[in-house]
Amino acid sequence: MGLFGEKEETLVKESWEILKQDIPRHSLRFFTIIFEIAPAAKGMFSFMEGSDEIPENNFKLKSHAVKVFKMTCESAIQLRESGEVVVAATTLKDLGSLHLKKGVIEAHFEVVKEALLRTIEEGVGNKWGEDMGSAWSEAYDQLVAAIKAEMNSEA
Ligand code: HEM
Repeated sequence: MGLFGEKEETLVKESWEILKQDIPRHSLRFFTIIFEIAPAAKGMFSFMEGSDEIPENNFKLKSHAVKVFKMTCESAIQLRESGEVVVAATTLKDLGSLHLKKGVIEAHFEVVKEALLRTIEEGVGNKWGEDMGSAWSEAYDQLVAAIKAEMNSEA
């Protein structure tokens, strides 16, 4: 990885500011891409229960999308400030056991990463660039490493 500096942090923060302006649309797009790549993952999410259609303006769908984007954004800030991602121990424990219980595996994190990057790319339009993509990638990878470490220690 390259050094995670001010430029990378700014690229992440700027793009999140843009996406934040339309959470319903981008959340829906995010999950549409996730389920296009991994249709079987539908079964894990409570908001997909009893239906094959992705619900619009669903609170739980938006909540998960916002969590993933926001925590990645916070990770970017930490990476710039201290060079590492630190998630509060209790949060990490809850995240680890919840995802383990839901049946989330390694490959799912890759699917979500792909969906995250594509949602941002579409969402920011001509502000998109390779540097923006790699800044989000790096922040996401480091956050996920922390979540996975917790999942592995519990499994
Ligand atoms: C629930 C965060 C990746 C599947 C949650 C919750 C949080 C969270 C905070 C609690 C409920 C909520 O606020 O919506 C994250 C973060 C991720 C990540 C930060 C990556 C950086 C994944 C992946 C999957 C997944 C890769 C599988 C594709 C779920 C499921 C729930 C959940 C099934 C239960 C939500 C429901 O049924 O409505 N996640 N998650 N998560 N997560 Fe994740």
